[in-house]
Formats: sequence, structure tokens, C-alpha cells
Amino acid sequence: MKTNEFKNWNQVKINRFREALVSWYLSNKRILPWRENSDPYRIWVSEVMLQQTRVDTVLPYFERFMTKFKTMQDFAYAKEADILKIWEGLGYYSRVRNLQIAMRQVIEDFDGVTPSSKAELLSLKGVGPYTAGAILSIAYKQAEPAIDGNVMRVISRIFEIDEDIMKPKTRKTFETILYELIDPDAASEFNQGLMEIGALVCTPKKPMCLLCPLQEFCASHRDGRELDFPVKIKKTKSKTLELVSVIVEQDGKYLVEQRASTGLLAGLWQFPTVEAKPDENIELIKLKFMREYGVGLKFARENLAHVKHIFSHLVWEVDVKQADVEEGAPIGQTQFVTRQELAELAFSVPYQKMWQAYVNQKGGSNK
Ligand code: ADE
Repeated sequence: MKTNEFKNWNQVKINRFREALVSWYLSNKRILPWRENSDPYRIWVSEVMLQQTRVDTVLPYFERFMTKFKTMQDFAYAKEADILKIWEGLGYYSRVRNLQIAMRQVIEDFDGVTPSSKAELLSLKGVGPYTAGAILSIAYKQAEPAIDGNVMRVISRIFEIDEDIMKPKTRKTFETILYELIDPDAASEFNQGLMEIGALVCTPKKPMCLLCPLQEFCASHRDGRELDFPVKIKKTKSKTLELVSVIVEQDGKYLVEQRASTGLLAGLWQFPTVEAKPDENIELIKLKFMREYGVGLKFARENLAHVKHIFSHLVWEVDVKQADVEEGAPIGQTQFVTRQELAELAFSVPYQKMWQAYVNQKGGSNK
């Protein structure tokens, strides 16, 4: 392992650090619904949601989730369509499926009690070291680190850790430091304090060091090198997929299809889509739709919208068109649904944007 500033720390400094962090957290923490109590169910759900997006975005999702699925039992045996609808727009839909499988495991193998040992937690579907650490520290007050992107940013700046945080083995460096640093008497506050500082103070581009309770401990601040950390080596460029999607209306109904049950956006709904270059011959595009969906289209609007969506390893560039059916009838998983039915189905964000563009263009409401 490479060396970092932590080697110069003694127990007195560690104790001062804990005190500074925990007392700052206690007086600055945001009031958040999953902080109301130590219920492992609520904490687990919130942590899975927070792995993919920020607190502000998560809040309404979390409230809807808890209103619909009041207990682990309610969620564990809910229909797939319902859990996807609750997650609609959050992304990484395999996480909600895994969460459901894991919660069934808890009910069936652990009498409905979320395990409080690391090994048992890690045996659950989709639970990795971060989620396990968050549940153990926040729900069960155990001295386990919970290392997410925010925590890595804060810790890498404090100790000038110059290893690439994108590499899985770098995690070990953070773990080694945090096992020694974590406050055994206030693990929840310590971990959430680091997360909170990462979210509110030690932000990626403009850290507010003057407001930081850890400023005196921060090596990169001392050296004026805050923005050199964390070290993140850029991945190679993502692949781009060029697509054409159509919104097809017939007698007040819309053509939709469900994606395959595995792979990207598994099980979510979408408007008919084919791969095509933006300048591809329109007749060729029609032919592709005919082959794939069994309907001959007449385009009513060729440039309804352009939607770009960036996934973790892939970019979609989607030209969105509007069309009527000239001939044929839908085949396979494709079907016409009413607006009301459409509103009950889970669509991914790019398809929600297409629908919004269509609704705006019609000048109506999307309800
Ligand atoms: N990000 C991840 N977990 C969090 C938590 N418990 N509170 C605030 N932000 C978080």
C-alpha cells in the first residue's frame, strides 16, 4: 500500500478528530426521514436509494416507498410492476429487484430480522460492503465504516490519498484508515457526519473549507491541494447508441412494449424503438419498425424531440418521432394502452422525457 498522511497521526489526534466530526454532525445534521429512528428496514431502503442519487431527489421517492410498503413484508412480496413503478426514474433498476430478493431472504432465513453481522449481511442479494457498513453502523451502532463516493472524497483530501478511487483495491486503503479512525461510541454519527460533510461542505468542485470542522486535520487544505483529490482516472469513452423512438397514437391509445426481463432497464416499458443513424433513409427506418413491431408507420412529426441519456457505460442519442399506423397490427410484447394504463407502467427517464415532449407539443397535461 502507498503511504499517506495517516501514518503521522497518534491517538490524541484521532480522538480530537472524532470529537470535531461527531459534534459538528450533531449540530448540523439535516432532518431526514430515515434519521427518525434506527429501523433497519428504513435505513436499508434509504441507503440503496442514496447510492444512486442525491438526498433531495431521494426524499419524495423514500416517502412514496414507505407509504406504499409500510413493512418489509409488504415490499418483499409486492408485484414486480409495483416495485418498478415506485423506482421509476431513479435508475439502476436491478437494485430494487435485488433489494426485494434480499428482503425475502431476511424474512425466510432470518425470521424477518435484518442481520446484524457483516457476514450475514454480505450473504444477502445485492448487499455489498457499503450497504452492510451503513446498516451495521447506522441501525446497529457497530464500528463499521461505510465508504461511498462522498466519504472517499473527504478522506482522500484529509490524508492526501493518491490512489485511483475507481480501482476496487483502493477501497482497502480507505478501510484500513477508517477502521482506526471511526468512533466506536458514535459510529452512526461518525459515518453520517462524513457523508454529510461530503454532501454539504467538501463538495467536488468548490469545497467550503472555511466552514469545515475538519479543516485543521486536512493535509490537502494545508497544502492548497484540495482539488487534486480524490484521484479518479477517467474511464475510456462510453459507447454511443443511436436510436429512433416513435410515439404512435391510434384511437386515443399508445403503442408500448415491455423490455426483456434481463439486461439494461429490464422489465421497464418503452415506446417502440429501433437502432438507426440520424441521417438514415426514412423508408429504411419504417422497414425496421415494420419488422420489429409489425406496424407500417406514417410519420406525422419527424423531429418531435431529441433525447440524450447517459448510462454508466453507454450513451443513448434518441431521435423521437410521432407516427400513425398505416397498416399492420402490433406483434410480440407490443400493445396499445390508454393514457391511464400508460400512467401505471414504469418507464425509464429517457422515455419519460419523450412522453413529456409529446405532451408539451400537444399542449395538454400528462395525466
Ligand atoms: N448518503 C448516503 N447515506 C446517507 C445518509 N444516511 N444520510 C445522508 N446522506 C447519505
